Amino acid sequence: MMNTPDRTVSRIETAGPPALKDAFKDDFYIGAALSLDQITGKEPDAMALVAKHFNSITPENILKWEEIHPKPGQYNFEAADRYVAFGETHKMHIVGHTLVWWHQTPDWVFQDASGKPLGREALLERMKEHIFTVMGRYRGRIHGWDVVNEAIAADGSWRKSRWYEILGENHVAKAFEFAREADPNAELYYNDFDLENRPKCEGVIRLVKGLQAKGVQVDGIGIQGHWFLKQPRLDEIEEQFEALAQLAPKLMITELDIGVLPALRFDVPITDLSSYDAANQKTLNPYATGLPDAAEKDQARRYAELFSFFRKHRDKLGRVTFWGVHDGQSWRSYWPITGRTEYPMLFDRRCQPKPALDAVIKVAQGKSR
Ligand code: XIL
Repeated sequence: MMNTPDRTVSRIETAGPPALKDAFKDDFYIGAALSLDQITGKEPDAMALVAKHFNSITPENILKWEEIHPKPGQYNFEAADRYVAFGETHKMHIVGHTLVWWHQTPDWVFQDASGKPLGREALLERMKEHIFTVMGRYRGRIHGWDVVNEAIAADGSWRKSRWYEILGENHVAKAFEFAREADPNAELYYNDFDLENRPKCEGVIRLVKGLQAKGVQVDGIGIQGHWFLKQPRLDEIEEQFEALAQLAPKLMITELDIGVLPALRFDVPITDLSSYDAANQKTLNPYATGLPDAAEKDQARRYAELFSFFRKHRDKLGRVTFWGVHDGQSWRSYWPITGRTEYPMLFDRRCQPKPALDAVIKVAQGKSR
């Protein structure tokens, strides 16, 4: 009887699932991407999960150019300040995403006052000012940055972004140089998707080798990991993984989510579900009213398979970050088709654990695969 209060505490503690970050503490950081609502206090349940399960965070949108620097000379730091403070309170590995990207960057960045394409020197000056201002504010507090995101196209050639059109290949080296100067102690990453496809991966390898030949150090390569139940296959991921690991001290899975809806490419024009006929709507969005047990189990198996693979490669892998906390937040319900209901995360729309969470934790405990 004497120990009753203590037993009550321990019963409560053992009732919930173990924390992901504890399960993988000897392997890699476990991260989550946080939405604006989460950062600004509108989703306390999701944030409780973040505090319990994750030891790294990435901002889903708030550090992107259009959010933090929407107009010339105008910076919105409020949400980013709260994001960094949350990470510090919980002693997390804090990631910055992203400085130079073709997407979510306003048109004005590439234009002069009369709307004409900006010249090379002026654009470099703008890039430098942005990187110095944003990285400089969080110098020593944001630990690693996705300096350049998605500079390579599917066939391995340079993506024909406006950065590329105005500055050429050198825009990547310049971004890394400015970033190194802005915070010499931050880790600097190159981040991209579809790296499990060989031509794309070879393009990224050329890019990183080109940087290294110029003396530009890349501290890590981010593999986004927006994947599906059956694609990509593990052997495809492994082949490219081995090749990338030769180049950078650290690989990271930076945006993991496993969709259960039919596999589609991401770099296509966005459409709305309502623009398809009824039969296609059913095919493209089969689980509008809930995820059947069988699909939930398939997803749990897929997550388990991936995490055993990640553990096998833990010497190369510094972090695995999920692109969101729960299903209700996932961008995959509105990309590349808006109006769908996806279920890519380990927690459901009510922030409850799904079978996939249990499966992943079992992998860490060596109880599966
Ligand atoms: C996505 C966000 O999740 C969405 O909210 C936003 O509308 C579009 O961008 N690759 C990346 C991420 O590097 O920044 C993207 O995030 C997903 C693809």
